[in-house]
Amino acid sequence: MRVGVLGTGRVAAVLGTRWAARGHAIVFGSRNPTGEKARQLVERAGGGATVGTLHDAVATAEVVLLATPYGAAPDLLASVGDLGDRVLIDCSNPLKPDLSGLVVEGGLSAAERIAGWARGGRVVKAFNVASTATMAQPLYDGQAASMFYCGDDRDAKTLVRQLIADLDFEPVDAGPLRCASYLESLAMLYIHLAVREGWGSHCAFRMMRRDPPPK
Ligand SMILES: NC(=O)c1ccc[n+]([C@@H]2O[C@H](COP(=O)([O-])OP(=O)(O)OC[C@H]3O[C@@H](n4cnc5c(N)ncnc54)[C@H](OP(=O)(O)O)[C@@H]3O)[C@@H](O)[C@H]2O)c1
Repeated sequence: MRVGVLGTGRVAAVLGTRWAARGHAIVFGSRNPTGEKARQLVERAGGGATVGTLHDAVATAEVVLLATPYGAAPDLLASVGDLGDRVLIDCSNPLKPDLSGLVVEGGLSAAERIAGWARGGRVVKAFNVASTATMAQPLYDGQAASMFYCGDDRDAKTLVRQLIADLDFEPVDAGPLRCASYLESLAMLYIHLAVREGWGSHCAFRMMRRDPPPK
């Protein structure tokens, strides 16, 4: 797939690099595409990954990963223009600065607000409930960490499911986009466990299922 990755930070680097290694065509989008950080990222990513402006990363993409801080989203989405039919993956967690909770505006999740700011685009929430350590290696003793995703467009979710599976996560369809608030709350639980309860970043959620016992 042709994936535009907006941002060159921690999430952008790990997901973009791993997708490039799996044969996806990656264009990173940066505010400073000629800077040293962007150059080093492209070199590290290999696989023909390139870097350009935020517009460049969107232009040729089928799928766009928004890997910038949540607070950057309104201006960024206004500046890149109409996303047309592209899939927009929102991995953001709208955290309060002291990590004490989520910023909730108008009773909407960050994903729903992003869907409102984006012109065009089919928004899928994904990749918000894992640390970058788990994104780099989702297998725990051979068992895949779960990656929840939700959205309203079936075809968009199929593409995102594939991108999740390509990184060795177990994709879990969490329903329509209105369920994004559940994923954002789950991320808050993760951050609480990792930061306040001492679990650190090498831990992950896994959904399990079994057949019910016969009646
Ligand atoms: N870190 C995690 O463990 C983790 C896990 C799950 C989800 N997330 C979510 O993933 C997103 C990215 O997190 P991160 O940890 O990768 O952040 P990060 O390391 O701070 O990187 C964010 C990148 O976004 C770009 N950026 C920053 N401000 C911008 C602006 N005003 N306009 C346009 N681009 C801007 C920058 O790239 P350029 O300087 O190249 O433009 C920067 O490198 C956040 O929404 C976060 O909640 C993070």
